[in-house]
Amino acid sequence: MATKLASKSEYLYKRARELIPGGVNSPVRYYSPYPLFVASGKGSRFRTVDGEEFLDYCMAYGALLDGHAYEEVLEAVQKALARGSLYGQPTEMEVELASLISSLVPSMEMVRLVNSGTEATMHSLRLARAFTGRQKILKFEGGYHGAHDSVLVRAGSGASNLGIPNSEGITKDVAKDTLVAKFNDEEMSGRIIEDHAHELAAVIIEPVMGNMGPILPRPGFLETLRKITEENGVVLIFDEVITGFRIALGGAQEYFRIRPDMTVLGKILGGGLPIAAFGGRREIMEKLAPLGGVYQAGTYNGNPVSVAASLVMLQSLKRRALQLYPKLEKTGEHVRRGIRDYIESRKLAAQISGLSSMFQIFFTDHPVIDYDSAKTSDTIIFQKYFQSLLAARVFVPPSQFETCFLATSHKDDEIQVTLEAIESALNGLRP
Ligand SMILES: Cc1ncc(COP(=O)(O)O)c(C=O)c1O
Repeated sequence: MATKLASKSEYLYKRARELIPGGVNSPVRYYSPYPLFVASGKGSRFRTVDGEEFLDYCMAYGALLDGHAYEEVLEAVQKALARGSLYGQPTEMEVELASLISSLVPSMEMVRLVNSGTEATMHSLRLARAFTGRQKILKFEGGYHGAHDSVLVRAGSGASNLGIPNSEGITKDVAKDTLVAKFNDEEMSGRIIEDHAHELAAVIIEPVMGNMGPILPRPGFLETLRKITEENGVVLIFDEVITGFRIALGGAQEYFRIRPDMTVLGKILGGGLPIAAFGGRREIMEKLAPLGGVYQAGTYNGNPVSVAASLVMLQSLKRRALQLYPKLEKTGEHVRRGIRDYIESRKLAAQISGLSSMFQIFFTDHPVIDYDSAKTSDTIIFQKYFQSLLAARVFVPPSQFETCFLATSHKDDEIQVTLEAIESALNGLRP
């Protein structure tokens, strides 16, 4: 006799894991005992296949700045679909989008559209290698730049959570070309860049770390990187897949006033549709085929549906920027202060970290400034905290090493309910 399953999510998970490795199409989506299967989303909430509603602070890992099913994007997508989903030919909208991206992020003098952040970082690194004629790259411990070979070395996000920051299947030859420094360690980064200047093509960095939970750059850290890379002819790549259009309209580079040589955008760029972009200095970008000898191509690059979504998303953000970003900053600060006050009043071994609409609680008594300090967090306690929030119908990313995201759709009363749920979850962790 078949055993009775508690829910449709459990039933779907059992089917899924026979067909899809681990039952999920991206590893971080799995959590014990089985992930919720989602049927729909609207605003700040999603609804599961079992009809339960959750307040969402994962927001598709930061892709949905305006929450689920944002009207303006939906309309643009429907209109675009009616005109055909793919042509494999250039469109007027692509030119408009490249122009808008370049005006909002001026360091991106030229732009190439691709479909995911992974592709965008992969191609920007190849381009930097071709431009400099050098082979090695430098990344930071715990930084995540997608799931391709050169950057899956000491990587954060799901890779870190699953304990496989160095993926199997990557050849030693590829891995040896990836140097790794500690985030926020100016001295170490500077030394590696100078020692390897003759063979170092690029430094790639999340200017605010998002894939170890949010970790802020110390004052001066990004400035030092900019200075040393410039002095040594190394291409500085800001991976703004998370921070782009999030911490300011022009991303972290606007917020911290630093002009990188190249930038990678994704997530919010598509308003929930798959699109990403990389771009930067004209002389670097002109090395891309068909102008130059660096090959990069894609059937779905610049597809009209994603481009329509992106165009309307960026136009909408530009229109609302003066209110939207200060409001997100204020709400983020309110949430972080509420949690910090609670942690301090109860003397919990926890840290709250974040900026603007990004936040996370680290279950450690060490200040979190880099990978090593983030890794002192107690992930078992985090799992209890996560499950307790889930029981209160509040969904946060299921890993200690991810970031929670506020969206413009979160209303004040929902934030209040969330803070109460977080306090109650934290209270339940006390021995
Ligand atoms: C900073 C950063 N770079 C790159 C990526 C990879 O993007 P994608 O998942 O679209 O391939 C991610 C994904 O989370 C990211 O956070």
